[in-house]
Amino acid sequence: MNVLITGATGFIGRALTAHLAWLGHDITAVSRDPARASALLRVRACAWDALPATDAIIHLAGESVAGIWTPWKRRRILESRVNTTRQLAAHPARVFLSASAVGYYGDRPGEVLTESSPPDPANRFRAQVCRAWEDATGCAQGRVVQLRLGHVLALDGGYIGALLPLFRIGAGCIFGNAAARVSWITICDTVRLIGFALENDRFSGPLNITTPNSISQSELARGIAAHCNRRVLTRIPAWLLRACLGEAAQALIEDQNIRPAKALDAGFRFEFPAWNGVREIIFVGGSQHTPNRATT
Ligand SMILES: NC(=O)c1ccc[n+]([C@@H]2O[C@H](COP(=O)([O-])OP(=O)(O)OC[C@H]3O[C@@H](n4cnc5c(N)ncnc54)[C@H](OP(=O)(O)O)[C@@H]3O)[C@@H](O)[C@H]2O)c1
Repeated sequence: MNVLITGATGFIGRALTAHLAWLGHDITAVSRDPARASALLRVRACAWDALPATDAIIHLAGESVAGIWTPWKRRRILESRVNTTRQLAAHPARVFLSASAVGYYGDRPGEVLTESSPPDPANRFRAQVCRAWEDATGCAQGRVVQLRLGHVLALDGGYIGALLPLFRIGAGCIFGNAAARVSWITICDTVRLIGFALENDRFSGPLNITTPNSISQSELARGIAAHCNRRVLTRIPAWLLRACLGEAAQALIEDQNIRPAKALDAGFRFEFPAWNGVREIIFVGGSQHTPNRATT
């Protein structure tokens, strides 16, 4: 299949491009800097104003959510996702897979969340972005899947990649409530599940991209600390994180026990469904993904 990937130069995009190319798809990266993208990924690349005809589009691009969410940053986070999604939805393609995030559900202690669960009742900024981002896929003609991504784990990027320097110097902390659930997935299973959704016509609408087994904030922090041969320094209460980071703290502290109901119903087999197994791939084997075709 001819596949356009936006955000292909990013953390998930790089692994996804390699995985889909391995599966035999013909990839074109869409980038603000096509020359750099082509050199980095060794695939064809194009600019946003020169999209070629394609069978499928996978949309991962968006302003980084790292940092303090000033009004300017919030506008960039929202507009870089919604405007590009609208543009891509108007570009003819048989399949359109568009990123979203589990921020859609908000802070939901004690609940098991599936794709049919309602959005964040508190309607915080993260949920507003996810809803607007998903709504922007609305005018696409073909099959549309909204990829509700959890914390994607690897050593070289995402949640763990960002926190490793702190844990290495012994300054790693538990964020918020130690018992709060974190919904996670390895980069390996992330790209396998996106590839599965691309090739499998039964998927449409929202799709949770998480493992079936959430872990606690405490288990996550202690696991990263153990990898660094350190101890967790302390626990930072949620109120203090909010005072320092504002709304950006929500992504670190939200309590979410998410079930990837559609992936499980379709028979997708996670290579790393449980935290013990993930420790082996994340902490011993590194962040490389194994490009097995996901089978039922
Ligand atoms: N990583 C996670 O755990 C996670 C969890 C939930 C949701 N997500 C979502 O999944 C998507 C991919 O995540 P990621 O971690 O791979 O992101 P990333 O590493 O930050 O990469 C995003 C890519 O988007 C492009 N980009 C950056 N700023 C942009 C802007 N202002 N306008 C247009 N394009 C811009 C860049 O590509 P070019 O420079 O080549 O244009 C960049 O490589 C994001 O939308 C993210 O919000 C990720």
